[in-house]
Amino acid sequence: MPENILIAIAWPYSNAEIHVGNITGSHLPGDIVARYHRLKGNHVLMVSGTDSHGTPVVIAADKEGKPVEEVYKKYHDGFIEVFKGYGITYDMFTTTHSENHFKVSQAMFLALQKNGFLFKQFSKQWYSPSADKFLPDRYVEGTCYICGYEYARSDQCDRCGNVLEPEKLINPRAKTGDGALELRDTEHFYLDLSKLEPDVKKFLEERAPHMRDTVIGESLRKIESEGLKPRSITRDIDWGIPVPVEGWTEAGKRIYVWFEAVIGYLSAPIEWAQVAAEKDAWREWWTNPEAKQFHFIGKDNIFFHTSQWPAELMGAGSAFMEIFVGEEVPLTLPYDVPANQFMNLEGQKISGSRGWAVWGLDALTRYDPDALRYYLTVNMPEMKDSDWDWGEFVARNNNELVATWGNLANRVLSFTFKHWEGHVPEVDPAALRPADLDLLAVIENGFNIVGAELEAVHLRSALGEAMKLATAVNQYLDQNAPWSAVKTDKDGAAKTIYTALKAIDSLKVMFSPFLPFTAERLHGFFGYENPLFGEQFTEDVTDSLGTHKVLRYRAGSGESATRPQWRPSELKPGQKLNQPAPLFKKLEEKVAEEERERLPQP
Ligand code: MF3
Ligand code: ZN
Repeated sequence: MPENILIAIAWPYSNAEIHVGNITGSHLPGDIVARYHRLKGNHVLMVSGTDSHGTPVVIAADKEGKPVEEVYKKYHDGFIEVFKGYGITYDMFTTTHSENHFKVSQAMFLALQKNGFLFKQFSKQWYSPSADKFLPDRYVEGTCYICGYEYARSDQCDRCGNVLEPEKLINPRAKTGDGALELRDTEHFYLDLSKLEPDVKKFLEERAPHMRDTVIGESLRKIESEGLKPRSITRDIDWGIPVPVEGWTEAGKRIYVWFEAVIGYLSAPIEWAQVAAEKDAWREWWTNPEAKQFHFIGKDNIFFHTSQWPAELMGAGSAFMEIFVGEEVPLTLPYDVPANQFMNLEGQKISGSRGWAVWGLDALTRYDPDALRYYLTVNMPEMKDSDWDWGEFVARNNNELVATWGNLANRVLSFTFKHWEGHVPEVDPAALRPADLDLLAVIENGFNIVGAELEAVHLRSALGEAMKLATAVNQYLDQNAPWSAVKTDKDGAAKTIYTALKAIDSLKVMFSPFLPFTAERLHGFFGYENPLFGEQFTEDVTDSLGTHKVLRYRAGSGESATRPQWRPSELKPGQKLNQPAPLFKKLEEKVAEEERERLPQP
């Protein structure tokens, strides 16, 4: 029975470009797992989109002196280019600024309200009479009432590190230059997380056995030490989703970005179903309790995904579906949240504003996507922070990707092409020798070993296991030396080559979730007609808010669309091959120094 797998990936803010830390943090691991499940023949839906609302985006637009709408779209379109370039195969990469997302978010708000999990309360907020608006905390600075630092942000002091209560700030000023400020009362909606705390705790405890210690530990610790407290879910801001309560939009209030962005995991599948003309197909992942939902995120987003989002879903209960489709059905809860830690760059924290980063699109102008994907996987910050080191990038590319795997495939295919006139040697499989059968048995078992690691989202280890198998094939070739045997014992050499080709054909599949571009080329060298995977494409969606671009994926004629490919090679003796070529490029040592020189110098 195929499983329904939802791969849900953190929605990037539309205020900065994507760097390698973002790619290895969430988009790449999500893609690897999605591709694996597609090869297994499971029903995969992989979604995300641009997190287009919130103050960070408004601030970015202010800085660039452009309308927010224009700025969010610029980043959004850039994200789509990055994902196409790296082969991050979203079935639906959309934006929170769409009519569909507005409707789904508002229905979720109303469902929580109906079930009694929302309340209204007044608080004090800095207000600019000259600009006639409330200012978000990040827009206000002043003197810290704890240490006296004159340039403290209203909610946090960068000198003493304390979290501040905005209304106690001394001598507050608007960063935007909006004149004198005064404190005014403002009313907001709150999500009563304290009422949902027992449900969230139970949810976490049930999932603890298959969740990462780093994720479950942090989530439960936070609940035990501070408990879950009510959180405001509206803001005084004019960019965002209207609050579905009379008068609130006119009062300049919108839904808080963190309340609605997570709802994208539900709205994006609904939009996917609409544009793919599969209307109700999204329910396979959302109202089927057996569906498995994985959330790929960075460690800074853990609370929102392990506590707030499950709380929203449990609080809404079956009222969301009742409001949205007129049928009382509960929604499926997340299965796993394999959050990653952070990747640093050359020993320092990646910082976009300081230019200390390797940018996704820029790196693609100099390196192949699979070379980047390889290094980003062997160095993925799964359990602790990792470091992008240019010297290591070159070394691991040359010593592992090229030397162990690329050369193996190229050497055997070129040799076969030359000595057997472009065909797989005609060998009777029943005549294979014990050593040949031993190797094929080891490779066959690899599908279980690598598959189990992929299923558990241990991606570094999964790739390491596949690499070990490539080493085993290299050793087998050293022992059987078909290069010289071809002159003295062509029959024996044929058996060795047939065995090695079958092993490489299998390894191609095991490597393909990690290295999809080169796996696809290798698949072509083997002479198969249909590609392993489908293809990515973009589309424009027009609604009452305008037009937004979406990135999509189509299984098309991909082999896995018709028959699962996660299985040992069935390569036929005599199969016609295509002219092979090297899969990877060796990099010169000096590349590391050149790249370090591109970084901001001290
Ligand atoms: N935009 C947030 C960030 O970049 C992540 C939002 S994840 C979502 O940190 F699910 F809430 F969208
Ligand atoms: Zn201070």
